Amino acid sequence: MEYKKIVDTLYWDNDSLYLLDQRFLPHRVDYRCCRTYRDTVDAIKEMSVRGAPAIGISAAFGMASAARESLQKGYNTVQMLSFLEEAAAELNRARPTAVNLYWAIKRIENILQDNLESEPAAIYKAVLSEAKIMHEEDIKNNRLIGAHGNNLVPSKASILTHCNAGALATGGYGTALGVIRAVFESGKDIHVFIDETRPLLQGARITAFELEQEKIPATLITDSSAAYLMSRGEIDLVVVGADRIAANGDVANKIGTYNLAVLAAYHELPFYIAAPLSTIDPEIDSGSDIIIEERSGSEVTGFGECCVAPQGIAVLNYAFDITPANLITAIVTEKGIISTPDRNKIKSLY
Ligand code: MRU
Repeated sequence: MEYKKIVDTLYWDNDSLYLLDQRFLPHRVDYRCCRTYRDTVDAIKEMSVRGAPAIGISAAFGMASAARESLQKGYNTVQMLSFLEEAAAELNRARPTAVNLYWAIKRIENILQDNLESEPAAIYKAVLSEAKIMHEEDIKNNRLIGAHGNNLVPSKASILTHCNAGALATGGYGTALGVIRAVFESGKDIHVFIDETRPLLQGARITAFELEQEKIPATLITDSSAAYLMSRGEIDLVVVGADRIAANGDVANKIGTYNLAVLAAYHELPFYIAAPLSTIDPEIDSGSDIIIEERSGSEVTGFGECCVAPQGIAVLNYAFDITPANLITAIVTEKGIISTPDRNKIKSLY
């Protein structure tokens, strides 16, 4: 069974970045056009684009937009580099938890360092080319993650996933869903349980959309169903993505991931993280040092126009949580699998 791409997460056309506006999935497939880098900052903040690798690639293209804006403004090289520095700072601030954002901007900054004496047009070309390379590399890495992860999955398996770590959270193909795709493509008999993933429902809206489109057998469940299904022997393994992996192997991912890791340990089920090396942050010692994004309470008190909670109720809305390394059976990267991750094994990856 060959993977056929349904929709592009993002693409560059006519000097602009087009992002699939994921706020409207699954009902509307609409692209949001980002002409300026500030358009990209807004799209990341408003979660038109989301998922750690997709945010990183978008930010890289955001830097290309900033370079193009500099050309339009008629800036010389010095003015352009200073404008790009501002753009990098704003893009870096768009969301705090996924390290891929900083990683991508850093790669573009390295390109700028190599072009300190170049003409503005050449700088634009170099930045855009690096963003395109990063996009292509991400898809290749996801396919490798999928191929490695496939080795962990038996010929018949019931797999639980959380949030969306799919084609739409990345440049394409996906990390956790990349593993699921590879397993399905290899002909194994799988069934996927998708956590709806409150409050923004990335599971119900986006993962369900991806799996439905490709006819990968799947069932949507409420977030609170996992323990019961595990107790009944209906789950064989859990695979999720990551937003940031600390030097000691602790993992930040969508809120509710830690719950699943605890449940998987209790029920003696494998708990896998699938993520590219760009998600590892060697500068962060452990999970407790990772900044966890806190989002608006309105995401919890209602959905869209519909309000479900009494006005004025206090809300706590953490977007991510930390799963300690000792609850992780293995981390699957493009370089291979590391079982029972620890500081030394993480270090061996980079
Ligand atoms: O808030 P989101 O939708 O950006 O959160 C996404 C996740 O938590 C994903 O699991 C993670 O970014 C990995 S995507 C390959």
